[in-house]
Amino acid sequence: MSRSVAHTHRVVQRDTTRRRVSRRGFLGLLGGAGAGIALAGCGLGGLVGQTAELLPSRAPLPKPFQVPLPIPPVKRPVRTDGDTDYYEIVQRVGRVEILPGLRTTILGYDGIFPGPTLVTTSGRRVVVKHRNELPVPVAVHLHGGHTPADSDGFPTDLVLPVSGWDPPRNAHSARMRGDVSRGEREYVYPMNQRAATLWYHDHRMDFTGPQVYRGLAGMHIVHDAEERALPLPDGDRDIPLMICDRSFEADGSFRYPALDRTLREVPGVIADYMEGVVGDVILVNGAPWPVCEVEAVRYRLRILNASNARRYGLTLKPADGPPASFVQIGSDGGLLERPIRHERIDVAPAERFDVIVDFSQYAPGTVLTLRNELGKGATTQVMRFVVTRRAKDDSTIPKRLSTIERLDPERAVVTRVWKFRRGTVPSRQAHSDGDTTRSGWTINGKPFDPDSAHASPRLGEIEIWRFVSDLHHPVHVHLDPFQVIKRGNREPGPYDAGWKDTVDVRPAEHVDVVVRFSDYRGPFVMHCHNLEHEDMAMMATFRTT
Ligand code: C2O
Ligand code: CU
Repeated sequence: MSRSVAHTHRVVQRDTTRRRVSRRGFLGLLGGAGAGIALAGCGLGGLVGQTAELLPSRAPLPKPFQVPLPIPPVKRPVRTDGDTDYYEIVQRVGRVEILPGLRTTILGYDGIFPGPTLVTTSGRRVVVKHRNELPVPVAVHLHGGHTPADSDGFPTDLVLPVSGWDPPRNAHSARMRGDVSRGEREYVYPMNQRAATLWYHDHRMDFTGPQVYRGLAGMHIVHDAEERALPLPDGDRDIPLMICDRSFEADGSFRYPALDRTLREVPGVIADYMEGVVGDVILVNGAPWPVCEVEAVRYRLRILNASNARRYGLTLKPADGPPASFVQIGSDGGLLERPIRHERIDVAPAERFDVIVDFSQYAPGTVLTLRNELGKGATTQVMRFVVTRRAKDDSTIPKRLSTIERLDPERAVVTRVWKFRRGTVPSRQAHSDGDTTRSGWTINGKPFDPDSAHASPRLGEIEIWRFVSDLHHPVHVHLDPFQVIKRGNREPGPYDAGWKDTVDVRPAEHVDVVVRFSDYRGPFVMHCHNLEHEDMAMMATFRTT
């Protein structure tokens, strides 16, 4: 067995960039990577540790710490039977107050932002019927879901608006041949997976960035018996924190540099923002720099970075004294084996960190600020916690949380190399017959093509995937989580523990992960979760067999 495994181990590397890149292109890449490193190192240009460009608001920024932390409502099933819970979500336009005194038009699940939270149970099937009352096509992806291909929200499996939709007549849309439904679609989630903090969001090909930015994101929490048996904080001491940044126009609408504001034909953003859009207002659960009152007890915080492109370096600091620690108990794919204590947590887009904070060491009246050490000015702050009173606390953090099966890299049958680089992609201009090209983002030198698979992993086999970057790229793989085995040529980093589905690949770095796909055959995607990069073609299809 091990002999044949060793013999079948191939290194798949389909990189054409080196050969094809011109001298100018090569210097461009270098310049890009060099700039990224300079930014990460000394904060030149004001965006520390980011591959992105700041888009300033035209509305006056609100004063921080004026509004309470909202908790998105938990969605109730419309019906339930022996093994399935059925939900219905209507995607519609909403008008909400995010900045005090102004109205923001959002695209929302049930018309709210964030969308309602789904709380489900491992092993119980979930069916969510989505009805699209928005003016744009959508696709719904459950991020972190172990989901069959036809319910995974493949980027061309669109749900068209109930009100009708004339497809744009350009060469590009003619190539989009997905499983398209009109008005409604049922997504079926077997939920054969561990307890974990998932989220759902839009995944429409080419337009995910602006559609998520306008509000199409919500949390999905999975529980299981193993987790329920642990004495962790729960109930209202278990708080989801969806963190994202936005910019606003003077009238309160979201500001976003889309090339095509109707989100109809031309994807992508204006050239200055192609590295990614970061805003100057930090929202938690949709509110700017909110305040959360807590008792002097332990809390479980489920941190999700739902930003399009912003990375955060989170710390939690009282006005004086040392920073509080975050005791990490879970990652993207659920519980860790053992808790890990951090004073700072770096979170790339789409990553989740499930942490316990012990507020019992603080006297009532203490104010702690959740800070972003990678921000500047207003974006150095995220939210506040105010300790109100002492209270009884039965929770503890067990020394051992769970058991994680180690995927043995020695048993990998293949190593696949995925190079995330700036490159040339089709411009997808309206009404052009032949595609002209523009600068965008590629994987192994190629722009996203929904019809051609870059890899055909076999279900049940262990593979090593190597992600190689020019700049910051948070790499996300659908269907099954992976384990990080190497960062550069070293051990995994402090934020790489446990089952991950998104990994923060930093400039000019390579990260090796070990993955094993299971259960479902079909086409799935892997992509950069910087949503501007994703829309500008940094996505690839793999087909499990
Ligand atoms: Cu969170 Cu393919 O996405
Ligand atoms: Cu990227």
